[in-house]
Amino acid sequence: MLSTTTTLKPALTPLRWEARTLFLLDQTQLPLSTVWHSYTTVEGVVEAIQTMVVRGAPAIGLAAAYGMVLAFQQVINTETQWALVLEALKPLATELNASRPTAVNLMWAVQQQWQLLQQAALQELPLEQALKALEANAVTLHQQDVEANQRMGALGASLLPAHARLLTHCNAGALATGGYGTALGVIRAAYATGKCSHVFADETRPRLQGAQLTAYELMYEGIPSTLICDNMAASLMQQGRIDAILVGADRIAANGDAANKIGTYSLAVVAHYHQVPFYVVAPASTFDGELPTGTGIPIEERSTQEVTVVNQQRLAPEGMNVYNPGFDVTPAHLITAIITPDVILKAPYAAGISAWLGNRAEGLAVTTV
Ligand code: MRU
Repeated sequence: MLSTTTTLKPALTPLRWEARTLFLLDQTQLPLSTVWHSYTTVEGVVEAIQTMVVRGAPAIGLAAAYGMVLAFQQVINTETQWALVLEALKPLATELNASRPTAVNLMWAVQQQWQLLQQAALQELPLEQALKALEANAVTLHQQDVEANQRMGALGASLLPAHARLLTHCNAGALATGGYGTALGVIRAAYATGKCSHVFADETRPRLQGAQLTAYELMYEGIPSTLICDNMAASLMQQGRIDAILVGADRIAANGDAANKIGTYSLAVVAHYHQVPFYVVAPASTFDGELPTGTGIPIEERSTQEVTVVNQQRLAPEGMNVYNPGFDVTPAHLITAIITPDVILKAPYAAGISAWLGNRAEGLAVTTV
């Protein structure tokens, strides 16, 4: 008699925290090599964020939360008084905070950890105890991110028709988050419940997160999928072959304008023209309630080499001018809904976002609206 055995693959994760060391999966080397680097200093974490060893808004935020633990540990090796500790920590936290400009999850995580330390300082907690609290908070933020992604997955999947053909841009999967994924989390949940029959992944020029990371994740999960160049998405929509588009976000303003990987805005415009639902999937840490509209979102400009050089080979002539913004802003009116862990937000966004964030701050139960 034949017997079958099922081997469960380990869940993909971009980061691990073990023995006060941060381990980051080097995303610049995927899918060809699986290389983990270890970090015991905040300076190392800053470099990892800047060089995109770790990338994706929520994953950057979590790396920063652990980075704050490393920074604090470094400082209390030499300083023993709270006032001096905070003074020495400030420039390290500031540098970490500024390591990439667009993903607000980074600033959110640094702020969460800084606030915890200010409370600890007020209470004059022993420094080693504060270090343990800071570490425990980073681990909690990490767990909460994975749980939030799973909730967004279930909520988002509920919006989709059966056997939907979906399109995504950049990488908003397990590797861009604490695990499971935002937009790709919805796709995973939809596939698991028979609501997704096929996924098209944009390659996402210039850094190719779609070709390298989303394609890898989709194949890892066994989800039927096809890789396309970014300029092929409009034609697929014109042919009626896309039922919905799902993307993540790096920062969402109070009015619902959403910054995400460059190319997202053009997808939203084309989706609007072809009446394809366009969904943004993001946890609370991606919302910037302080910014009234998306025009205030700082957009990272990246190296010209990302455009002129492919596979270490120069394509464009030397001296050619290059424009290379890493992100663009999709205006709220082009977004069909924003899927969060607690609510599916629809226009008008400003009121919904403010009520939802307010409820969260007060710790009230929130339900789908
Ligand atoms: O430059 P990156 O790779 O950090 O940009 C990432 C994105 O734009 C993602 O789509 C975004 O962070 C989605 S959130 C999981």
